Amino acid sequence: MAKDRVDPANLWFQRKLRRFHRMAIPTNNEVLYGAAERKSRSLRTIISSSYLLLVPFTEDMMDKYCGWFQDDHLCRITGTDAAIIKDSFTTWTTDPAKIMFIVLDRRKYEPDRKDDAVAAMIGDVNLVISFVEPGSPDSLSPQKLPAGSSLQEVEVMLMLAEPDYRCKGLGTQILHLIMRYGLEELGISVFKAHISRDNHQSLRLFQSAGYSQTHYSEVFGEYALTLNLDLRSKSALIDKTDAIGYSLLLET
Ligand SMILES: CC(C)(COP(=O)(O)OP(=O)(O)OC[C@H]1O[C@@H](n2cnc3c(N)ncnc32)[C@H](O)[C@@H]1OP(=O)(O)O)[C@@H](O)C(=O)NCCC(=O)NCCS
Repeated sequence: MAKDRVDPANLWFQRKLRRFHRMAIPTNNEVLYGAAERKSRSLRTIISSSYLLLVPFTEDMMDKYCGWFQDDHLCRITGTDAAIIKDSFTTWTTDPAKIMFIVLDRRKYEPDRKDDAVAAMIGDVNLVISFVEPGSPDSLSPQKLPAGSSLQEVEVMLMLAEPDYRCKGLGTQILHLIMRYGLEELGISVFKAHISRDNHQSLRLFQSAGYSQTHYSEVFGEYALTLNLDLRSKSALIDKTDAIGYSLLLET
């Protein structure tokens, strides 16, 4: 596994920079072919399973969402800067490279009933799509691709903000559901995650889903984990998500 060199004098600044970067990763929209349509489609998509609904963020969810980050521990393990959450929402709702779903408890919310979605909110799951040149230091993709080509990768971030919902297998289900969405709707089969070294549960979650550690950054105190789905793992993912009732609802 590759390791970063640490420059202690620069550590504070780099950590701040990293947080800012996470919340507003610049993208080259020209490069993201079809990204605008993909984004607009995602804003009309609900990912459904037997127990969960992954729905687009709406303004009325903002207060509860920001309330979650009054918890310092949650901010630390998710690498979130509570002070800039509201501002960063503009990028999540408009940037074609970013896709955000709020996770709802399906027992409390059904799309065709007039339930209160805010009361059913339990967490979120976010995707950041990027193109990475093969062979670049950041690349998680196979090295030998035709010159000039690039692959799409997606970083997955997920959180069960409501503690009562943790450790019941729901994080695993959300990860599987979002990967199936990434695979079939976005055409992406290379997934990555950055997880703090102290976040044993999240490390375990991604490793159990087949991700492996490819890099450790001492500067950020976090591991990079990656998963490149081959044919067999794609089919296993489809089976697992079928078993929990995966389906997509698209608002017209
Ligand atoms: C991390 C998180 C998403 C995991 O979701 P979850 O529903 O609690 O996890 P699951 O019940 O699906 O369990 C996932 C794995 O972690 C393991 N696990 C559970 N508690 C654990 C603990 N305290 N330490 C280590 N592993 C643990 C489970 O056994 C399971 O592994 P397995 O499939 O090999 O048995 C959720 O706990 C969470 O949101 N925590 C706070 C925010 C966070 O850390 N977000 C991630 C930042 S990317």
